[in-house]
Amino acid sequence: MGENPLSAGGGRRPRAGTRRLLVAGALGVLGTVTALAASVPAGAAAGTLGAAAAQSGRYYGAAIAAGHMNDSTYVATWDREYNAVTPENEMKWDATEPSRGSFRFTSADQIVSHAQSKGMKIRGHTLVWHGQLPSWVGGLSTNDLRSAMVNHINNVMGHYKGKIYAWDVVNEAFADGGSVGSLRSSIFTQKLGNGFIEEAFRAARAADPNAKLCYNDYNIDDANANKTRGVYNMVKDFKARGVPIDCVGLQSHLSQGSVPSNYQQNIAQFAALGVDVQITELDIGGSGSAQADAYRRVTQACTAVPRCTGMTVWGITDKYSWRSGDNPLLFDGNFNKKQAYTAVLDALNAATPNTSPSPTISPTPSPTPSPNTSPNTSPSPRTSPSSTPSPVTGACSATLTTVNSWPGGFQSEVTVRAGGSAVDGWTVKWTWPGGQTISSLWNGTQSVSGSSVTVGNAAYNGSIAAGSSTTFGFTANGSAATPTLTCTSP
Ligand code: XIL
Repeated sequence: MGENPLSAGGGRRPRAGTRRLLVAGALGVLGTVTALAASVPAGAAAGTLGAAAAQSGRYYGAAIAAGHMNDSTYVATWDREYNAVTPENEMKWDATEPSRGSFRFTSADQIVSHAQSKGMKIRGHTLVWHGQLPSWVGGLSTNDLRSAMVNHINNVMGHYKGKIYAWDVVNEAFADGGSVGSLRSSIFTQKLGNGFIEEAFRAARAADPNAKLCYNDYNIDDANANKTRGVYNMVKDFKARGVPIDCVGLQSHLSQGSVPSNYQQNIAQFAALGVDVQITELDIGGSGSAQADAYRRVTQACTAVPRCTGMTVWGITDKYSWRSGDNPLLFDGNFNKKQAYTAVLDALNAATPNTSPSPTISPTPSPTPSPNTSPNTSPSPRTSPSSTPSPVTGACSATLTTVNSWPGGFQSEVTVRAGGSAVDGWTVKWTWPGGQTISSLWNGTQSVSGSSVTVGNAAYNGSIAAGSSTTFGFTANGSAATPTLTCTSP
């Protein structure tokens, strides 16, 4: 694990990985293939990675960059070999919300619609990460950052609602080389404290209840490393307290000499906590049979654990890899299959059918405050939606839905709909029945006077076409309430 080439920071590139073994084992192809082929049950072998993985109920995906989709060989290889995708950069915060409240999904949509047309699974990457974070986020106050984070999660997950198999909700929050449980210092820990992870997961569950919610990190491949233990303890704590989490993503940016000997045991220990495990960004620097062996071991480790539900390689061809100097992928620069490809295909074909598919998502509510990870405002998965339609008093109407509630607090979403004509600017008002107070509001501007609340549109969502709608949301203290709302437009 110490050999992992990564360092922190968005847009970073790892230093070149192991080069001394570049030509080693290049002659071992035939022997390796023959030996593995013998272990594949007769008639069961599939000819592509996706089809081979599907035999045991798993997916095999690749990270895809929208910018390379004009390369027809790239797309043809993706379509032929893989049955899942992760957009490599297109769903990150800097790409989706380059300025506050302005969302852009063009590049990510390109990948998503292609994947959907081929029936592929889509992993969403990533919602809350210190890397590739637009600079405006760094200047926010605590309250603004909390509301911007929830708003970002709501908008990005909302845009892709129902389309994403699993989201990397929080990426790379733990520190390297620290004591067990230490988090990397970031704008999120500095302003929101360690509870930002829990806040993000709770907001994510409310935003798309059908997506699996993953914590994703690198250097958590060794079962006993401090960083791994920290993530393990967090997942255990989340499960015990009913904080929604469904999966752990092992990025697994490795080199051929650095696959930990306890890698399978590591996957199994996370799975035993009651979460799925996915290998999310696999690439292994090296070459020839040593690289192939490393890929084989990683593949076998996943297929040996029923709750390891799929693997994603971080790119298709070495020439477009973020670690292109390490030649870490399954296809060379000319899209030829490498020895590593055959090792993976054979290992997938040799997997026994997965008899224990992961259960559908059902959060177990048992909230107990935890000093380490509880945020001040902590929504729980006790979701009990309730909705109250409001009378149309002007050109618009407003409907409040309780999307989440927990002892002492709740989260609501308000849909503002234009009537028969377009609306340019809107105001929603209500009176709290029982002393409720808003702790954080997004997609609108609020003013409060005693129990009266007035919410106006944000700069970017005041215009609503006739019959269309927009939403704002908030978290609040007190008992969930559904007051009567009035909506007016100037
Ligand atoms: C990388 C991309 O592959 C590069 O194109 C980009 O310049 C930097 O980010 N961990 C992650 C991924 O979670 O998002 C990173 O992707 C690689 C490390």
